[in-house]
This record gives sequence, C-alpha cells and structure tokens, in this order.
Amino acid sequence: MPQQPVNIFEYEDIARQKLEKGHYDFIAGAATDEITLRRTRAVLDSIMLRPKMLTDISERDTATTVLGQPISLPVMLDPAGNHEAAHPDAELATARAAGAAGTLMIVSSHAARTLEDVAAAATGPLWFQQYLFKDRALTLEMAGRAEEAGYSALCITVDAKIKPKRERNIRNNYTGAPSPNYSQIDLTEHSWRFAADAPAGVMDIRDPAATWSDIDWLAAAQRLPVVIKGIMIGEDGRHAADAGAKAVIVSNHGARYLDTTLTTIEALPEIVEAADGRIEVYMDGGIRRGTDIVKAIALGARAVLIGRPLFWGLAADGENGVRAILEMLRDELDATMGMCGRPTLSHIDRNIITTTSPLQAMFPTQPQDNPRH
Ligand SMILES: Cc1cc2nc3c(=O)[nH]c(=O)nc-3n(C[C@H](O)[C@H](O)[C@H](O)COP(=O)(O)O)c2cc1C
Repeated sequence: MPQQPVNIFEYEDIARQKLEKGHYDFIAGAATDEITLRRTRAVLDSIMLRPKMLTDISERDTATTVLGQPISLPVMLDPAGNHEAAHPDAELATARAAGAAGTLMIVSSHAARTLEDVAAAATGPLWFQQYLFKDRALTLEMAGRAEEAGYSALCITVDAKIKPKRERNIRNNYTGAPSPNYSQIDLTEHSWRFAADAPAGVMDIRDPAATWSDIDWLAAAQRLPVVIKGIMIGEDGRHAADAGAKAVIVSNHGARYLDTTLTTIEALPEIVEAADGRIEVYMDGGIRRGTDIVKAIALGARAVLIGRPLFWGLAADGENGVRAILEMLRDELDATMGMCGRPTLSHIDRNIITTTSPLQAMFPTQPQDNPRH
C-alpha cells in the first residue's frame, strides 16, 4: 500500500486507484442520478452530537448480540456479490476478517465462492442472503444448503425484484460475474448484464410476484430464522414481524435500485416504531464513521452493516484490509461513546443527537443587511 490510510474514505481512494474502472464503478455506483447516494452522507453529516460530561467512561463496551449471537461491535458485513472483483481471495478473505474482528458476515448468493467454501473458511458466524425465486423448490434448496453448511440465519432481500438502471455500468458495458452458487441450476445465462438491451441473466429467476405471504411460507417451511433486508417504511416493518421474520434491515440497497428514496437513517425511526420491539432492527447505508454508528443506534438500530467499505478494504489489502476497516470503526465508535459519556451501547439514546441548530429558533429569519451602513 502506498500510504497507510487513516479512514475509510482513504481506503476508497486506494481502491479507486487499484481497481479496474468497470469494477470500481460497479461497487461505488448507484441507480440513475445517484441522488440518494449523495444525500446519504449529507444527512448523516447533518446530525449533530450532544456529548455528556463527567460520567464514568473508564470501562467501555461495544459488544452486542444479533438474534442472540454475540458480536464484539455493532457492525456486521452486508451481503454483497462477487468479492473477487476486489481481491482474488474473494469472500474467503472477508469471512476470515469478520471472524477475526469478532463480527458476523452475511454471505450473498452472488458470491464468487460457493456458500459451502465460504463456510469452511469462516471463523465467525455467518448468515446467508438469497431471494424469493420464482421456483420455490430452488428457494428452499438454497436455504437448505445454507443450513447444512452451518449458516445461522437466512437473509431475504426484498428490494431487488426489478433490474436497476445503473448508468455507470451501462456506459462501461459491465457484466456481473456468475456465482458458483448457481452453477447447478439450469439458467439460460448465469451472469447479469446492465446494458439496457441485454437480458437480465440471473435477475430473471427472482420472483416479481412475491408477497408477504411468501415470507410467511418461507419462515415456516425451513428452520433458519428469517431476516428481511430492504425495508424502508413502517408498514413493511409490521408486515415482516407479522410474517414471522425475526429481524429487518432498514436498507435501500446502497441506493443501487431505486433512486430518490429517503436515506436509511431518515427511514429508520418509523420502522423502529412499527417494529415495536417485536423484531430486531438493523440499518445499512453510508456507514463510514464511528459517529455514524452512534447516530443509527440513537435512532433505534440494534446494529449497522457496511457494504462498499468491505470492497475498499479487500482492494487495498485483502483480509487485512477488511479487518483494518472493522478495527477502525471499532476504535472510532469506542472513542465517540467515551467522548459522549455513553460507556455501553444501551446508554446511547435519542438525547445524544439533534438536527436542529438552536440558533435557528433565535434567528428565524435571515439577518438583513442594514442599508444605512
Ligand atoms: C458491489 C455491491 C454488491 C452488492 N450485492 C448485494 C447482494 O448480492 N445482495 C444484497 O442483498 N445486497 C447487495 N448489495 C447491497 C449491500 O448489501 C448494502 O445494502 C449496501 O451496500 C449498504 O450501503 P453501503 O455500501 O453504503 O455501506 C451490494 C452492494 C454493493 C456495493
């Protein structure tokens, strides 16, 4: 590495230099105008912290549990396809890094290694991410493989039924690599293409007709607890709980499907309220700093997940790079908790944040220039 990066943004700079443009754009990019992508950081940055002084912060603890499984920091690795785009060791490196950092990885069904190979390399807990396929037997077959391989939950992504318009990929004529997870399945095309006139490939096997009753069915038809990924409104949080899911991930897929949605940190409170403690609520989207984690927890997330940063870590330094990113987030989170007077995650409440400057109430209208001066 040229110079040791000091934050996740610098890891991205290194990745941008090292990766082929098509891969970099695939990872960094989002749908159409990328409005939600830009808004994500802007909103997180606009939330201000209200630190409390002189509480005993000599012992701090960033540990929590997700679906009863202990993790040493409230940051999990999001499911994301084809880690080989960033490093030849692909998901095997990522899984080892997650285990070493004491956290959990959700393995994508579009991984560059089979779910069985990732499980064999892993040193920590894994969940498996898949879709509701038109072929319900295939849906159960994948879930069964995951259970057999030792995965402890099934993450069903529900915001990706329609092929997205990602203009960077169309311009680059980018074609996503096929995943060996689908190699036994009879498909006309295993990869997925972005060019507007090309067939959608593996996208075609996802079921656009799926509804909440299919989650009811899946939760009952196999043994793993179900986590729903891609919830953006309270009503769907309630549906998830009613359908027997154990948790939801508030997510807009990193703004990679539908542009101009709210950012996830804005959507989070409505979903936490609707979940009403019946299911766990996690959040992803734009988490790059320890302060971001504190803000999400303050608004009711039990834990957060990161997507693009794992690729930046992989591109920069493989397994060590992903580990370094997780350690950076842990250190920043620990320091933020200490400086805010909150020694454990359960001490982080809404009181810790604000979005309104008190000066706005003092000066409701813009000061006018005095024409006599
Ligand atoms: C390159 C890439 C591939 C992804 N592949 C998947 C996937 O296979 N399944 C899925 O549910 N989400 C996928 N996602 C979305 C992530 O799980 C996550 O929602 C998003 O990246 C979070 O935002 P962040 O990148 O700002 O952290 C992918 C994201 C990226 C960047």
